[in-house]
Amino acid sequence: MPMTEDERNKRQSIIDACRRMNALGINQGTSGNISLRHGEGMLITPTSVPYDEMVPEQIVFMGFDGAFAAGAKPSSEWRFHLDILRARGDVNAVVHAHPTYATVLAIMGREIPPIHYMIAAAGGETIRCAPYATYGTAELSAHAVKALEGRFACLLAHHGMIAVGPSLSRALWLAVEVETLARQYHGCLQVGEPPLLSSEEIERVRQKIAGYGHA
Ligand code: 13P
Repeated sequence: MPMTEDERNKRQSIIDACRRMNALGINQGTSGNISLRHGEGMLITPTSVPYDEMVPEQIVFMGFDGAFAAGAKPSSEWRFHLDILRARGDVNAVVHAHPTYATVLAIMGREIPPIHYMIAAAGGETIRCAPYATYGTAELSAHAVKALEGRFACLLAHHGMIAVGPSLSRALWLAVEVETLARQYHGCLQVGEPPLLSSEEIERVRQKIAGYGHA
């Protein structure tokens, strides 16, 4: 079946977001991957293709049943992308990357606490850290879906982070915000344990910030 213009645009937007992710310094090499809801499934980056060489035809369509065209090579992390999109009707885009500071905290098994009001953009007073499981496994996917409950971002122990959103631009924006919070928290920890904002304040900001930033 020939590709519609809408599908081609979505595929190109995924490639553009991958390149932007590396240009922004929140990922390196091909260690990130991106998916976008499309019909009864998702469009997802292919495994291990350098973003500068990636073309729309290489983006893989995978149905919500996990089926994909013979010969296609979806990201090794397709399972958590698919499970997140299946579990979360409010999510249309999933961005996974290995940003340095978020990954440092994830290696230390630390969630990000409410050190700054911007954490409310990720949906609550913490950005949880999902327990470690081998990349690409159903176990890792289950941990990620749980850590994302009521949230738009989480860390993955000894691995990296996930940011999700109603649009790809929103998810990418949030990924940068999460890495910024991780840098700030890392900086605070050089001085000592930082004071935290209250649950009430984070809830107030969460409601206020919902419409802020990228659509
Ligand atoms: P892919 O290249 O298969 O998307 O995976 C890279 C990776 O490091 C996953 O965490």
